[in-house]
Amino acid sequence: MAPVNVATSAGQYPIHIAPGRLQHIAESVPANATRLVVISNPVVDGLYGEVLRQALAGLNKPVLTIIVPDGEAFKSLDTLNTIYDRMLTEKLDRRAVVLALGGGVIGDMAGFAAATYMRGIRYMQIPTTLLAQVDSSVGGKTAVNHPLGKNMIGAFYQPVSVDIDINVLRTLPAREVSAGLAEVIKYGLILDRAFFEWCESNVAQLVALDADALAYAIARCCELKAQVVSEDEKETGLRAILNLGHTFGHAIEAGLGFGTWLHGEAVACGLVQAAVLSGKVLGMPETDIARVRALVRAIGCPDIAPDLGESTWLDLMQGDKKTEGGEIRYVLMPAIGQAVVQAAPLQQVQETLSATVGDVAIDRRAAQLADLSGARA
Ligand code: NAD
Ligand code: GLY
Repeated sequence: MAPVNVATSAGQYPIHIAPGRLQHIAESVPANATRLVVISNPVVDGLYGEVLRQALAGLNKPVLTIIVPDGEAFKSLDTLNTIYDRMLTEKLDRRAVVLALGGGVIGDMAGFAAATYMRGIRYMQIPTTLLAQVDSSVGGKTAVNHPLGKNMIGAFYQPVSVDIDINVLRTLPAREVSAGLAEVIKYGLILDRAFFEWCESNVAQLVALDADALAYAIARCCELKAQVVSEDEKETGLRAILNLGHTFGHAIEAGLGFGTWLHGEAVACGLVQAAVLSGKVLGMPETDIARVRALVRAIGCPDIAPDLGESTWLDLMQGDKKTEGGEIRYVLMPAIGQAVVQAAPLQQVQETLSATVGDVAIDRRAAQLADLSGARA
């Protein structure tokens, strides 16, 4: 498959997508790299670290591996500091290259370490979750969390390459696959109705991790994200549409406590809520809203939001990065395949909350996830 290219102010970089790409990773390493620094966590390094290091062996460049603890809770300034400690102790120079091997947590944090070590060294993204392959590894948003807010300390800093090995998704838990699929359908909703319809027709294959379906979907998402990032690298306008569902989703994550629902699960539910609000504000057709809900269910994600209480909902949504001058701005859809960013009348937001919150149906969700695991067996 030909690489997808991302054009940025600093030049262009490729996204290589292929089953087994890890074995060919040496092709993406810059020739003048002095040392290679693999940053990963124990889970991903345990599964794929050796394959990666073997694939790098022929380059005859020293490889340092830095392992940080697994999980969103460790995407922090403290963990980042341990990364800097190792990089400085090992006296890495400016031509060292970081290889971020993991999901979005590792990609965002290793990317920010690269953005800031000696004012910036090169890094490669090697995403191993579906969410990271279709979203976080592309476009150069790097960050760590602050106790007062998620992703609040960060930088726009583009990688030199993104290498996507579809095979690594076979070891991903079903719940993580389901959460990643939420970001996949998001692209169809904001930019490409035909792709949304393709997802509807191929949802069983996607859930079952069919290699051809995954390769097509990941490539289409990367193409769409590359177009948006190339047009608006630093989110001064268009790029905000990539946050469809995130205003509601972030409120769910924060309201329930980070980690209770996965980011992708909260976004999936937020897609349904954004569709309902779009119906009220922009007249999104009821048939389109129903299709969004049906696909969110089919990928195994929740479509009923937790009842956080109206004032908590509004408070949490106020903290969204798209809020301007105290006014919450939402990504809304006139119809499937089109998106705009705008404020919404309070009454319609309140009606949307009433219509979309309820019993989060934990039993139904457990059954959905069991079905998903069955589909992959
Ligand atoms: P994650 O990085 O925490 O990975 C999820 C879990 O899967 C982890 O336990 C991880 O160890 C494990 N894992 C990873 N690859 C695996 C594999 N192949 N097999 C088995 N287990 C594997 O979560 P995520 O969903 O990938 O990323 C979420 C993060 O991404 C959040 O911090 C979010 O803020 C960030 N994000 C960033 C952007 C961006 O544009 N930079 C976009 C979306 C999300
Ligand atoms: N994940 C949203 C963005 O990259 O802008």
